[in-house]
Amino acid sequence: MSQPIAVIDSGVGGLTVVQEIIRQIPREEIVYFGDTARCPYGPRSREEVRNFSLQLIHFLEQFNPKMLVIACNTATAVILEELRESYSIPVIGVIHPGVRAAIKVTLSGRIGVIGTIGTIQSSLYEEALKQVHPGLYITSLACPAFVPLVEQGKLDHEEAFDIVCEALKPLEKENIDTLILGCTHYPLLAPIIQDVMGDVKLISSADETAREVSTILFHKNQLSKDFCRPVHRFFASGKKEVFQKIAEEWLRIPIKVEHVEF
Ligand code: DGL
Repeated sequence: MSQPIAVIDSGVGGLTVVQEIIRQIPREEIVYFGDTARCPYGPRSREEVRNFSLQLIHFLEQFNPKMLVIACNTATAVILEELRESYSIPVIGVIHPGVRAAIKVTLSGRIGVIGTIGTIQSSLYEEALKQVHPGLYITSLACPAFVPLVEQGKLDHEEAFDIVCEALKPLEKENIDTLILGCTHYPLLAPIIQDVMGDVKLISSADETAREVSTILFHKNQLSKDFCRPVHRFFASGKKEVFQKIAEEWLRIPIKVEHVEF
């Protein structure tokens, strides 16, 4: 009986991680939960983020996953350590992979981090970056307007450009060479963010997270041995249609979305 990789996020953001998992280890089956009805998690209390995340994880437990990926920075900041202590399967977050990716590419040591209010207030990026390299200059900025744009599928509208431009203004004088997209929704806005930031290198943790997933499964001898294409399952607590449209555009595969109400 094959065991899937379980992935959770507050909405469509975790699909950026799913896309990389499918690209790097295409034979792995994925079960995904996007809590679109209660998105965004960013401005919520830690207790709410914890309770909602646990609800999604408990739902996905019925599929007997071999690994759990918290593809949400806000939830990673709140619940990763607790999950690692209570689960026997590996639990992966997205913050440390993003930190590793940024440290690999920065040349000046001046790094920006953008994320939700919850992630930025947790200071976890700053702490993790400084732990690896105390001499880094880090500047952090919460961008609460970005997630609603992504969830509404407004990815190339003029309105999106104006909102991104305005939100990123505080970074103009920071002279950073690397910007961590510290929210899994933000890679969907990457073309606009790149336009606004010019020469700065954008870091999405998706690539590095997927690499961590495949490395761990390899070492545990748990990579899928099936040769047929896996059938992934996607669950959303909000409207199926919007989720499906964004997911199919982003993943470039037809998918079926199942609605689950809490
Ligand atoms: N995509 C999530 C993150 O990485 C959550 C965004 C939100 O719901 O506010 O933080």
